[in-house]
Amino acid sequence: MARIVILTGAGLSAESGLGTFRDKDGLWTKYDLEDVATPEGFARDPGLVTGFYNARRANLLAAAPNAAHLALAELEAAMPGEVRIVTQNIDNLHERAGSRAVWHMHGELMRALCQACGAKWDAPAEMRVADACPSCGKAATRPDVVWFGEYPYHMEEIWDAIRAAELFVAIGTSGQVFPAAAFVQDASRAGAETLELNLERSEVSHDFEETRQGPATEIVPAWVAEMLGC
Ligand code: APR
Repeated sequence: MARIVILTGAGLSAESGLGTFRDKDGLWTKYDLEDVATPEGFARDPGLVTGFYNARRANLLAAAPNAAHLALAELEAAMPGEVRIVTQNIDNLHERAGSRAVWHMHGELMRALCQACGAKWDAPAEMRVADACPSCGKAATRPDVVWFGEYPYHMEEIWDAIRAAELFVAIGTSGQVFPAAAFVQDASRAGAETLELNLERSEVSHDFEETRQGPATEIVPAWVAEMLGC
């Protein structure tokens, strides 16, 4: 009975056509993250920020899970024990592939959040700042995503799962954003084996016992097949 925690990042969804952040042509080479991914940026220009996420939501609605998402869903369904996904991605491709145990530590693009009362609801394809909250009626709508300077979601459960893990795997993440970048050290300290699957070596590759390089749609299904003994 295995206990596996899998951290995923933008590289997992890259081959579904969703952009990464820090690669050449990544989102943070085209946009200033201070403008579109901070509470201060939203306060300065809510229309710009809402438009940025509306565009990303339109991309997501046109995208589909890839072979790597599907393989991780198969692992969760077929592996005796517990397979937990901790994702930094705000897309819903894990769920659409069939994964059930998914923590979205950076929130979800398909959800809306009321800044006034904290209510959450399904986001419309085109969100507007003036959309009224279905709970309190105020026009204080924002995407339910965690911006720089905000506290990620589900951290207590995530740390508990990492401390109990026998295997920690990071897939498609550059290891440049905390706290996720430190999960490998937390997992090692707690005695887990650690594996990195990424297109290339990352900032934190040296913290992993094993690293494998290649596109997620190739190396993730191959690793899952090994795990399931196929
Ligand atoms: N297969 C596997 N890995 C890939 C692929 C691919 N097809 N394409 C790119 N990668 C790798 C890159 O080499 C890089 O190491 O995915 C990683 C993506 O890194 P980032 O763009 O930094 O994305 P991520 O690590 O998810 O960013 C973390 O930063 O801005 C925030 O909130 C945002 O959740 C995001 C967080």
